[in-house]
Amino acid sequence: MKLSIIAARSKNGVIGNGSNIPWKAEGEQKLFKDITMGGVLIMGRKTYQSIGKPLPGRETIVISRTQKQRLDSVELWNCLPDALNSAAKKGKPIFVAGGGEIYSQTIRIADYLHLTTVHTHAEGNIRFPSIPAKFSLRQEDFYKSNINYTYQYYERDK
Ligand SMILES: NC(=O)c1ccc[n+]([C@@H]2O[C@H](COP(=O)([O-])OP(=O)(O)OC[C@H]3O[C@@H](n4cnc5c(N)ncnc54)[C@H](OP(=O)(O)O)[C@@H]3O)[C@@H](O)[C@H]2O)c1
Repeated sequence: MKLSIIAARSKNGVIGNGSNIPWKAEGEQKLFKDITMGGVLIMGRKTYQSIGKPLPGRETIVISRTQKQRLDSVELWNCLPDALNSAAKKGKPIFVAGGGEIYSQTIRIADYLHLTTVHTHAEGNIRFPSIPAKFSLRQEDFYKSNINYTYQYYERDK
């Protein structure tokens, strides 16, 4: 099983403020859509509730320690290993889609990182974890927008 993390962070490492993402960079969500389309998204319960619905064209797996009933028609697991096992059986690319708690728990085992840096300093209490040195940058694309952003793709060193 190969595991990707996909996230957007501000220049100062913020990914969220409460339940919100504290910027709106036009085009950045399309990038997320294009990369994840056809895959499986694994996300924490708080992130799922902030999105509010399953995203079309992708399977969503939510993890929660406390939630016992499925939210909408979305798959629910009470621990990360069960969520990863279920995702692996689907034979599709697997993306960890946040939030902060889930990124922190998966950065040690992720194979690929799709990281967008939005060129702004944002106020927020949720941050992306530091990237272990074991990753190498393979691709970098700059996007001009209302707030410019840079997409970077990293692979774990063999
Ligand atoms: N910028 C980005 O790319 C991006 C992407 C995604 C999210 N976000 C932002 O990130 C923020 C949310 O992140 P967050 O850290 O507060 O929450 P989160 O990671 O989305 O969800 C945390 C919840 O996940 C469950 N959980 C965590 N670890 C678990 C485990 N090992 N086993 C089972 N369940 C587990 C718990 O749910 P229960 O409480 O139900 O037990 C926990 O409260 C929001 O601001 C959101 O907008 C940003």
